[in-house]
Amino acid sequence: MKDGATPEALASAPPSYDAARERIEIELLLEGVFRQYGFDFRSYAFASIRRRLWKHITAAGLRTISALQEQVLHDPVAMDRLLLDLSVNVTAMYRDPVFYQAFRQEVVPRLRTYPFIRVWHAGCSTGEEVVSMAILLEEEGLYERARIYATDINEVVLQQARTGIFPLDRMQEYTENYIRAGGARSFSEYYTARYDGALFSPALLANVVFSQHNLATDRSFAEFNVIICRNVLIYFDRTLQARVHALFYESLATFGVLGLGSKESLRLSPFEACYEPLGTSRLYRKVR
Ligand SMILES: C[S@@+](CC[C@H](N)C(=O)[O-])C[C@H]1O[C@@H](n2cnc3c(N)ncnc32)[C@H](O)[C@@H]1O
Repeated sequence: MKDGATPEALASAPPSYDAARERIEIELLLEGVFRQYGFDFRSYAFASIRRRLWKHITAAGLRTISALQEQVLHDPVAMDRLLLDLSVNVTAMYRDPVFYQAFRQEVVPRLRTYPFIRVWHAGCSTGEEVVSMAILLEEEGLYERARIYATDINEVVLQQARTGIFPLDRMQEYTENYIRAGGARSFSEYYTARYDGALFSPALLANVVFSQHNLATDRSFAEFNVIICRNVLIYFDRTLQARVHALFYESLATFGVLGLGSKESLRLSPFEACYEPLGTSRLYRKVR
């Protein structure tokens, strides 16, 4: 910690920093990042981006946002580091277990009627959510006929996801989540302990394709029966949320299901009237 800065100050501008100039610098930095690298953070919620930028700047030993701009525009490795800090990658297996319980009850019976199932996990981070879904589908006898497309803006987290290895010290929490999500087997059957990691059965990733996809700029790439995008839209402003909802609407088959995070909903989205809720756990069925 430098100059007697408190932990609070690490994630905010120094007190003398001019607010109007700070906004200009942030907008210029985000514009530069977009034009140089194609990562579009211009429509992310401003307060959240601002906090993350200052945290990054302080940790990098820089003094101004302009200094960070200079660094990232000239050094792709610095951009990779910034990307890691701008995209919040927090995740967990069976995060919000009631969501998965509702998925089993509300969605699985509908999926049984399909010969082939396409699932898109958008913003999948390091893959915990994807393996959770693969286990659920496997237990319901649906995995064989499923293809899971798992995407994220961040290639570093995708590389981690492809390994199928998660921290061993979280397995107790994940086991509890799994049981609360309606899992009835012994959770430890699915992984082998390797040093401090839990290696999940490679069969669970056999039908999964991981690839980079940017929800802010990229287009639809297939038609899906299920789209899961949880805890991603909360970081976007209204305009970007509307763009992503248009993308999901376009990418979902009729009667396809959209699953959102516990703090996200379709309320006030331009597509609200096109879906009906399935239960109360942020699952929505496209009806028109
Ligand atoms: C908080 S994590 C959520 C992970 C998981 N869906 C869950 O709920 O546990 C948010 C993820 O969204 C990704 N993300 C952020 N902006 C994105 C964008 N424009 N396109 C695709 N993914 C994005 C981040 O890289 C991060 O991995």
